[in-house]
Amino acid sequence: KILILDFGSQYTQLIARAVREANVYCEIIPYHKPFDIDSSIKGVILSGSPFSVNDEKAPEVDILRIINRLPVLGVCYGAQLTAKAFGGKVDKSNKREYGRAKLTKKQDDVLLHNISNDSQVWMSHSDSITGIPEGFEILATTESIPVAAFKKNGGDTQPLYGLQFHPEVYHSTEGKLIIHNFLVNICGCKQDWTPASFVHETIEQLKKQIGDAHVIMALSGGVDSTVAATLISRAIGDRLHGIFVDNGVLRKDEFEQVLATYQQLGLNVKGVNAKQLFYNELKGKTDPEAKRKTIGKLFIDVFQQEAEQIKEAKFLGQGTIYPDVIESVSVHGPSVTIKSHHNVGGLPEKMHLSLVEPLRLLFKDEVRKVGLELGIPTDMINRHPFPGPGLAIRILGEITEEKVQLLQAADHIYIQGLKDNNLYTQVWQAGAILLPVKSVGVMGDERTYEFTVALRAVTSVDGMTADWAHLPYEFLANMSNEIINNVRGINRVVYDISSKPPATIEWE
Ligand code: XMP
Repeated sequence: KILILDFGSQYTQLIARAVREANVYCEIIPYHKPFDIDSSIKGVILSGSPFSVNDEKAPEVDILRIINRLPVLGVCYGAQLTAKAFGGKVDKSNKREYGRAKLTKKQDDVLLHNISNDSQVWMSHSDSITGIPEGFEILATTESIPVAAFKKNGGDTQPLYGLQFHPEVYHSTEGKLIIHNFLVNICGCKQDWTPASFVHETIEQLKKQIGDAHVIMALSGGVDSTVAATLISRAIGDRLHGIFVDNGVLRKDEFEQVLATYQQLGLNVKGVNAKQLFYNELKGKTDPEAKRKTIGKLFIDVFQQEAEQIKEAKFLGQGTIYPDVIESVSVHGPSVTIKSHHNVGGLPEKMHLSLVEPLRLLFKDEVRKVGLELGIPTDMINRHPFPGPGLAIRILGEITEEKVQLLQAADHIYIQGLKDNNLYTQVWQAGAILLPVKSVGVMGDERTYEFTVALRAVTSVDGMTADWAHLPYEFLANMSNEIINNVRGINRVVYDISSKPPATIEWE
C-alpha cells in the first residue's frame, strides 16, 4: 500500500482517489500519527496544507526517518517541507499563485516520463521554494516559479521527489500520469487493487471475522447499505438478517420494489410495515427538526424490536464508507477529530453488538464499482441519495397520509420523467416538494383551489455545495403538464432555481 500523510489539505482525499484509480491501495493518516515502516508500505506521499512551512505552528514530520527507507513524493506543502528539511529556502511568493500554469520540463526523469512539455498543472500556494537544497535537482519550472518539480540526487537507496503543483486535481491534465509514474515506476506497485480483488478478499475477511455468528443490519435501499449487505451475505448467507422498515415516507412503491431487489440478490431481509406508527407519531408536528427526531427515534425503536428477536446476533452490519472514518487534520491546530457515525444510535453498546463495516475503506465511487462487480442492478447502484426522514422533510408543515400520497404521485412522475429523458444520471439528486400553499387554477370550466409542488434537481459532487440543474425548458413544461393533469390536488408546479449555499438541497 501507499501511505498518504495528511497535513490538512482540502485535496488530500483527491490524492487518495487518484492513487486508488490507478488500482493501488492507499490509506490516509494524520501527519503526526506514528506508523511502522514495513514491507507492506511501498511509498509515502506528503499532502498539501493550509499552513506555511514558516509558521510557528507548522505541522511537521520527521522526514529523515522515512527517506532512504521508502520512496517519498511531497506535494505542495509536502514538497516545501522536504526542501526545508534539507536546508532549502521557502519564502512567500511575490504574487500568490493559484490556478493553471504551464510546466517546462528541464529533464526527462522517470517521474515526468511521457508528460508533455507545456503540460497544464494546477497551482494553489502562497509560498515558493526559492532555494533548492544542495544535492537536489530541478526537474521542471513554470513561468512564475523556479522549482515546480524536484528530486534528490546522490547515493540514496530510495528516491525522494517534490511537486509544487497538485497532480491530484482534475485541472492538472496529466497529473494522473505523474501519479502513475510514481506508483508504478518508482514505488513498484502492482496495480492489483481492483473491485474483483476487493470482493474476493473482503468476503474471506468477513468469514473470518464473523465465524459462525449472526449479523443484523438495517437496510435503506441506498447504495451503501445494499452493497455492504450483499458482501456480508456472500460471506455468511442467511445468517445475515436484514431489516427494512417502511416508515410511511418512502417514495411511491419503493418498499415493494426494494424488497424485490433484495430478494433477487438472495439477501435474507425482513420488510417491516410500520407506516401507521410513524403517521401517528408525526401527527401535529410541523417543525423540521421535530420531524427528524421523531422519525429517527421511532426507527431505532422499530429496529431494536426486530433485532431483539434475533437472539443469535453478535454483530451489527453497517454501510459506513471511508470519508466517514478518515481521521481529519484540523486547520485550527494539530487536533484530530474522528467522525463516528451510525444510524442506529447507541444500539451496538446496548445490545453488546460488534460492528461489521465491509466498506470502511472505500470511497463512494468505489462502492458503486464493487456493487456492479457483485451483480447489483445498475438502477440500484445509480440511485440518487435519499434522506433518512424521506418525504417527511419534503412535505412542508404537517404530514398526513393524504399529503404523502399526493407527493408520491408527483415525485414518481418527475423521477420517471428524468429517467425516460436520460437526465436522471446527469443530476446528483432530484425530488418534488409539497408546499403548504394552495392557489387558484382553472381546469375546463371548473375553478380549482389546490396545492403547489416544487421540483428540485441539483448538480453536486458531495452534497456540501450544489447548483440547481439547468434542466431543459421543454422537459420542465412536460413535467408540469403531466403532474397537473394526473395528480388531483395539485394545480401548480414551480422549479427551484436556488444554489447551495445560500439555500440547502432539501427545503426543511
Ligand atoms: P441539505 O438539505 O442539507 O442536504 O443541503 C444535503 C444532503 O443531505 C441529505 N439530508 C439528509 N439525509 N437525514 C439524512 O439521512 C437528514 O435529516 C437529511 N437532511 C438532508 C439531503 O437529501 C442531501 O442529499
